[in-house]
Amino acid sequence: MAKILVTGGLGFIGSHTVVELINAGYDPVIVDDLSNSQPQILDQLSKIIGFKPVFYQFDLCDKQKLIEFTKAEPDIEGIIHFAAFKAVGESVQKPLKYYHNNLTSLLNLLSVYSGKPVDFVFSSSCTVYGQPDELPVTENAPIKPAQSPYGNTKQIAEEILKDAIASGDAKNVIALRYFNPVGAHDSALIGELPIGVPQNLVPFITQTAIGKREKVTVFGSDYNTRDGSCVRDYIHVVDLAKAHVAALRLMANGTYKGYDVFNLGTGNGNTVLEIITAFELATGVKVNYEIGPRRSGDVEQVWGDVTKSSNELHWKAELGIDVMMSSAWEWEKYLSENPL
Ligand code: WQD
Repeated sequence: MAKILVTGGLGFIGSHTVVELINAGYDPVIVDDLSNSQPQILDQLSKIIGFKPVFYQFDLCDKQKLIEFTKAEPDIEGIIHFAAFKAVGESVQKPLKYYHNNLTSLLNLLSVYSGKPVDFVFSSSCTVYGQPDELPVTENAPIKPAQSPYGNTKQIAEEILKDAIASGDAKNVIALRYFNPVGAHDSALIGELPIGVPQNLVPFITQTAIGKREKVTVFGSDYNTRDGSCVRDYIHVVDLAKAHVAALRLMANGTYKGYDVFNLGTGNGNTVLEIITAFELATGVKVNYEIGPRRSGDVEQVWGDVTKSSNELHWKAELGIDVMMSSAWEWEKYLSENPL
């Protein structure tokens, strides 16, 4: 079984990807520094897959530790690099923390594995598009100036990866541009685990529905959209996780060479108010919300063109908004009875 290094493998998308890697016959090795994840996720994963995955705790910014890791795990054939800070708002307050962590970890991986026959999947983001001129947004859309240091780290990382391919430092790279990952594994044993007050919409909805939060504030209803609230392309985290397996398969098919990028969305856009309604329909639980002021840095509307992912990555999202909402709710209910 091909051994795959999963950095940030105890995080939201990382943990779901570990499950799909095992379902697909891969052998994941998790590296996580636990700066934005919980060690209990290892136990949760073992309840799903039947064994505790191999886990190393260290910071990828520590190159010496990474070199020691390569000696302990010499036969890594692929890397899926999730480990990064991702709070847009915090990145504006602490840009140096974001540039250091998100770029040093990537540079360490590329230099330690330079020249080795390792396939590399990079966790990128639709934030690189900013507010696209045309919708749905394709992978060829112009990259707009980043609206945050977080988004800038993703843009810079994509450039670094392209240059690493050109120089021969990296063999094969696929960058996956995520839209809005939501939902949880159907076991309700893993899901999104925001630390503190949720920044993202769906965990705020589920925490309001369970009574942890008083109400959801809809950040703006005066946008030029069908109901005035922002539009996003929400995608089930399990669909997203499966795309990482598809990326490894594409790079291993013997003909793939170099660098490519794919949108990971559903191709559909929903407004904030539609997501609240979808949650209420899927769960039968009313959500208390109010309209508030716009949040700075938000783009008005973005959803992905997923033609290339379907035709070339041979992947498409299958789970609908109803399952995204119901699975997120089942996970929130699980957490309320089993605090992690
Ligand atoms: C979605 C919509 C808010 C909270 C996320 C990640 C980012 C990147 C892209 C990976 C927006 C509105 C939110 C709330 C609200 N992912 N909202 N009330 O901003 O699209 O970015 O996906 O790289 O890292 O953060 O997601 O869930 O924060 O917001 O009205 O309490 O919901 O204005 O329109 P966003 P989000």
